[in-house]
Amino acid sequence: MKFTLFIPITFLLLFSISSASAHFFPNITSIPPSLIPNTTTWEAFNKLMGCHNGQKKVDGLTKFKKYLQYFGYLNSSYSSFSDDFDEYLESAVKTYQLNFNLNPTGELDEQTLKHIVRPRCGNADVINGTSTMNSGKQPRPYSANSTIHTVAHYTFFPGRPRWPESKTELTYAFSPENQLPENVKSLFARAFERWSEVTPLTFTETTSFNSADLKIGFFSGDHGDGEPFDGVLGTLAHAFSPPVGRFHLDGDENWVTDGNFNNGSPASAVDLESVVVHEIGHLLGLGHSSVEDSIMYPTIPSGTRKVELANDDIMGVQELYGSNPNYNGSEPSLIPREEGDWSGAHYVHCSLWGFVFPLIIGIFLL
Ligand SMILES: *[C@@H]1O[C@H](CO)[C@@H](O)[C@H](O)[C@H]1NC(C)=O
Ligand SMILES: *[C@@H]1O[C@H](CO)[C@@H](O)[C@H](O)[C@H]1NC(C)=O
Ligand SMILES: *[C@@H]1O[C@H](CO)[C@@H](O)[C@H](O)[C@H]1NC(C)=O
Ligand SMILES: *[C@@H]1O[C@H](CO)[C@@H](O)[C@H](O)[C@H]1NC(C)=O
Ligand SMILES: *[C@@H]1O[C@H](CO)[C@@H](O)[C@H](O)[C@H]1NC(C)=O
Ligand SMILES: *[C@@H]1O[C@H](CO)[C@@H](O)[C@H](O)[C@H]1NC(C)=O
Ligand SMILES: [Zn+2]
Ligand SMILES: [Zn+2]
Repeated sequence: MKFTLFIPITFLLLFSISSASAHFFPNITSIPPSLIPNTTTWEAFNKLMGCHNGQKKVDGLTKFKKYLQYFGYLNSSYSSFSDDFDEYLESAVKTYQLNFNLNPTGELDEQTLKHIVRPRCGNADVINGTSTMNSGKQPRPYSANSTIHTVAHYTFFPGRPRWPESKTELTYAFSPENQLPENVKSLFARAFERWSEVTPLTFTETTSFNSADLKIGFFSGDHGDGEPFDGVLGTLAHAFSPPVGRFHLDGDENWVTDGNFNNGSPASAVDLESVVVHEIGHLLGLGHSSVEDSIMYPTIPSGTRKVELANDDIMGVQELYGSNPNYNGSEPSLIPREEGDWSGAHYVHCSLWGFVFPLIIGIFLL
């Protein structure tokens, strides 16, 4: 009796963590209107305009707190998920504003919401309470023409994990279930090449998914690592720090492969190569940067292409791996950042546990 009941449950569980197929479009005109959503995941936050500390029962604030917690701005012990705007939320909003080079008012002003609703990488900006981006550094002027772009802002994961020195030839593989077309595979190869040009690292595709260093897959919704995807826009992808190597992309996005947005852009179109170049940065050990032009900046508006490594990205990755002997870039014009005081690798443990836990349950049920 029990046995026959558990088989379907286990099957469902295993099925629910397997890859989904993804939508790829050669260009923006080939996205069917039925796939262009009328409203996007975070657009509802716009109605929080003007919200500030002390306000009670603001419809939608609970959801907004979950958003901030997901990206690390409210720590994991925060549990006041009411619709009240408290001092912790105010402080979280200020941290967010510092990270995104905004005036740290603690209030949900127009500029802040403009950034909040943008599609973005699913990796957190604040890891175990330690902010990686601007907010973890000395205060500086916030005027639009401040010196922000002359200071390096690249960051690393806590503990500065990197691929070992002996391992400069990394392999990558695509989840066999995705059956990706050749043009998508070559797009990934191009993205890897951008990082390879500036470091001693090389990236080679292998068909052996299980033994590859970097494992790439498109998934929809909950896919077993505790960080479910959320449909069109919202979070686009996430990737784990070395030496985990898992790289997940949201199978529900309208991924565009030609990178041409000159003829307008449906609000839902996301440039695949831009997102891939960013996530490879995480796979190599880079965290998010506050430099808006950098690849490692956390958000990317839909219909935007950004695939060239900025000086900030190059300095960051070269601090971990050194330069490619053939790299002939311009002299870095940035001032290196001061050393962060990282400790622990909480994010990785946390995410690993999120992945292992459903597996254990699955095995237990078997
Ligand atoms: C977009 O892609 C479709 C399908 O491949 C193709 O028929 C069409 O010519 C392309 N349009 C442009 C503007 O490139
Ligand atoms: C958007 O709204 C239109 C009409 O209001 C509807 O026909 C269409 O199915 C909606 N699209 C989606 C993706 O929900
Ligand atoms: C988490 O945030 C709460 C406030 O919500 C604070 O009291 C607590 O000290 C924080 N915990 C850690 C570990 O930072
Ligand atoms: C920088 O901003 C100040 C005011 O914030 C302005 O007066 C000045 O002209 C700006 N300088 C440049 C070079 O844009
Ligand atoms: C580096 O590039 C500059 C200009 O792009 C060129 O003049 C120079 O010869 C190059 N050096 C090497 C070693 O390739
Ligand atoms: C967070 O980091 C601190 C040290 O900075 C460490 O003591 C603590 O264990 C970490 N918290 C978790 C939950 O890993
Ligand atoms: Zn990211
Ligand atoms: Zn994932």
